Amino acid sequence: MCGIIGYIGQQQAVPILIGGLKKLEYRGYDSSGIGIINGKIIVRKTNGKIQNLQDLIQTHPVPSSTIGISHTRWATHGAPNKINAHPHSDNTGKITLVHNGIIENYEILKKELQSKGHKFESETDTEVIVHLISEYYKNDLLDAVRKAIKKLKGAFALGVICADHPELLVTARIGSPLIIGIGKNENFIASDVPAILEHTRKIIYLKDGELACLYKDKVDIFTFEGKSVKPKIDEVTFSIEAVQKQGFDHFMLKEVHEQPDVLQKMIGFRLKKGEVVLEGLNLTEKQLQSIKNITIVACGTAYHAGMVGKYIIEHLSGRPVNIDVSSEFRYRDPIVDKHTLLLAISQSGETADTLAAVREAKNKGAKVVSVCNVIGSSLARESDGVLYTHAGPEIGVASTKAYTAQVMMLYLFAIKLASIYKKVSEKELKAIISKLKQIPQAYKQILDHKENIATMAKANSHFGCFLFLGRNINYPTALEGALKLKEISYIPAEGYAAGEMKHGPIALIDEYRAVVCVAVQSETYDKMVSNIQEIRSRKGKVIAVATEGDQTIQDHAEHVVFVPKTHPLLTPLLAVIPLQLIAYYISVQRGCDVDQPRNLAKSVTVE
Ligand code: F6R
Repeated sequence: MCGIIGYIGQQQAVPILIGGLKKLEYRGYDSSGIGIINGKIIVRKTNGKIQNLQDLIQTHPVPSSTIGISHTRWATHGAPNKINAHPHSDNTGKITLVHNGIIENYEILKKELQSKGHKFESETDTEVIVHLISEYYKNDLLDAVRKAIKKLKGAFALGVICADHPELLVTARIGSPLIIGIGKNENFIASDVPAILEHTRKIIYLKDGELACLYKDKVDIFTFEGKSVKPKIDEVTFSIEAVQKQGFDHFMLKEVHEQPDVLQKMIGFRLKKGEVVLEGLNLTEKQLQSIKNITIVACGTAYHAGMVGKYIIEHLSGRPVNIDVSSEFRYRDPIVDKHTLLLAISQSGETADTLAAVREAKNKGAKVVSVCNVIGSSLARESDGVLYTHAGPEIGVASTKAYTAQVMMLYLFAIKLASIYKKVSEKELKAIISKLKQIPQAYKQILDHKENIATMAKANSHFGCFLFLGRNINYPTALEGALKLKEISYIPAEGYAAGEMKHGPIALIDEYRAVVCVAVQSETYDKMVSNIQEIRSRKGKVIAVATEGDQTIQDHAEHVVFVPKTHPLLTPLLAVIPLQLIAYYISVQRGCDVDQPRNLAKSVTVE
């Protein structure tokens, strides 16, 4: 959680910091602050969104400065208020810092520091770091930071400045993302690339256990032990437009519309002459042959992608697939060994629980392949192989294009396994591949009718409770539809396997419930229609997602959204698009903050 950006150079720091924070607002938005040096440390902070900080700086301007750090917060320790907002300063007021991550042993450290006379202001874990640095500070900031971080347990990415050293910004990381941007006579730190993209494309991905001294004209990197590190500078390829709304009202809607292109590119890149090419997989055919079982770990939307993956991989490869939410996997002594392939799915590649699950599986001897969107993320670096989805930056907090890209990657992976294990006939595989190639076009057809979906969604936005039902491979689609709706509209929404209705949830049905039923073509279609009838006879309002050409569904549902016909195995890729749009338009209609829903942040870097 949280986003940090720091600057040192020749320009005024404040506009660069505020501009960068706005790009990082998706990481947390309950309070924010900046700290600069002009003879002394000057801090401004406030609760609420970055706009509040900008307004504060208008009414309480800061003097000119070419060095500064800033932070947008998603609260973990301590309420989201001004006192707990970053930066946090030591008692001398000389040192100030911003932090992304969580310090697990902060209570013990706080007591020790208090016994030495340090006075704490906030309820945060972060404040102990600046007091520790202050404790060790003898006019050498780097040395003090190095000594302080040795005492810390947990995860952190830090930006530290000191009034005695207006020419220096110190940064360090373990477990939380941090990049260094290299400019001309200016350098940057940030939690993510979009924050600094308009200033530079030259990026150093700081590794766990490294710290760095940024001056305006150079960057020195060291290990925590003090060994000098030669930096590898990467060039970012995605465009500035990729992190702008480009005329759409919200990033979420823009990202929904990017899906046909994202999938088209994936197909172009990964399907060569009817064969799947999985560059980055890093496993030989022999190693793939030796896999006895697959375990998938992921959280939230990525977990739903993994659930679809279980159906596809088992069907096409014949290998058993277990799936767990990452936070459960790591605490239940999972049965994983050297014959297990662990597939870790994560858009950000920074989700703390997924990283912990990967480490647990690796300790038990499993090979780890990740399906990841963010290049150079912690997950990508810790995996034996990485299958990048290349969906481009996803800014909307509710995941859309990352989800469909993950699902697409799982189809490609399953097809690869199928071609090795020969569980299904070549003919069936060819038929699936040929239909897979048509998916981007089918997306466009669904999006062409989005106004109809908008009208229908708005007309149903008054319902106080939604159920989402699906069966078989579209059970995860129902779960994903419910998650999308609840996270951006705050309407209670539950996803169920339709066959489970009679075992309890049907008690919820009356005229005040809307039930979204994924009733696309499949071998369980008739059973789904029976479920719909059971709902209607109890006065529930049914919105069905069905396959074009279905002549009868209209008799059973109040509203129907049609998706193009495809191979039954591929229906989750199509059925989810109307559900994303329904959630989007209901949320807009109810005046919710679609891109930045309350209490959420884009990447969950704490457990
Ligand atoms: C929901 C959503 C979250 C994420 C989850 C995992 O729209 O975005 O549920 O899917 O926090 O995040 P990643 O994929 O970054 O590991």
